[in-house]
Amino acid sequence: MAEVSTEIKGYDYANVDRSPVTLDELRELEATVEFTDEDRRALRQAGRILESHAEELVDGWRAIIGRHEHLSRWFSGPTASRTMRTRPRSNRASSAGSSILCTRPFDQTWLDYQHEIGLRHTPAKKNVVDERRTPPVVPLRYLLAFVVPVMSSVQTYLRNAAASPREAERMEIAWSKAVMLSVALWSEPYAKEGLW
Ligand code: HEM
Repeated sequence: MAEVSTEIKGYDYANVDRSPVTLDELRELEATVEFTDEDRRALRQAGRILESHAEELVDGWRAIIGRHEHLSRWFSGPTASRTMRTRPRSNRASSAGSSILCTRPFDQTWLDYQHEIGLRHTPAKKNVVDERRTPPVVPLRYLLAFVVPVMSSVQTYLRNAAASPREAERMEIAWSKAVMLSVALWSEPYAKEGLW
């Protein structure tokens, strides 16, 4: 996942508003998940492996959502069928999202982008990029619970490509920490002031 396309409308990595979360708070969250230099290296390695499976990964996540009406309803507009609509552009955008997770340093630009993606699950920004009429929010509980399939979805790819079970385990741990870190950041706009 070396290059992140900025051609996808609304997904300009370097051009989003500043996150209200500070870099110090980000470092404290990193310390909370015990994100180490070894994790950083393992995450990059995972990124190189997952690069060629990015679309499959996103398809897998969307398939899970599509199987459950209580999840797919957040993608559906007033006239949409129960089956989640396929959104190729968004698949590319989501692939770019996983790429950013694996390849970019956790700096101010990364922090700002995480904030933007979090907002896109809330009334502040959901439906804005695509100008669609779907429910204005993805409830926080689903964002949190969906961490589990996102974490486990990479296992097979990493295990097949790793030189040893230990190497695969290191990459899986790093991926899990990074996903958890992101979702912890995404929860900020959902929290009442002073409670985040
Ligand atoms: C750990 C869990 C999740 C991850 C990593 C994730 C990832 C992302 C990313 C990267 C985007 C922006 C790119 C795009 O438009 O595709 C996005 C948008 C979106 N996600 Fe999620 N997501 C998660 C959970 C969920 C859940 C549980 C739902 C609903 C059941 C959901 C519904 C949506 C919707 C509807 C959008 C488009 C919002 C808009 O721009 O209108 N997401 N997600």
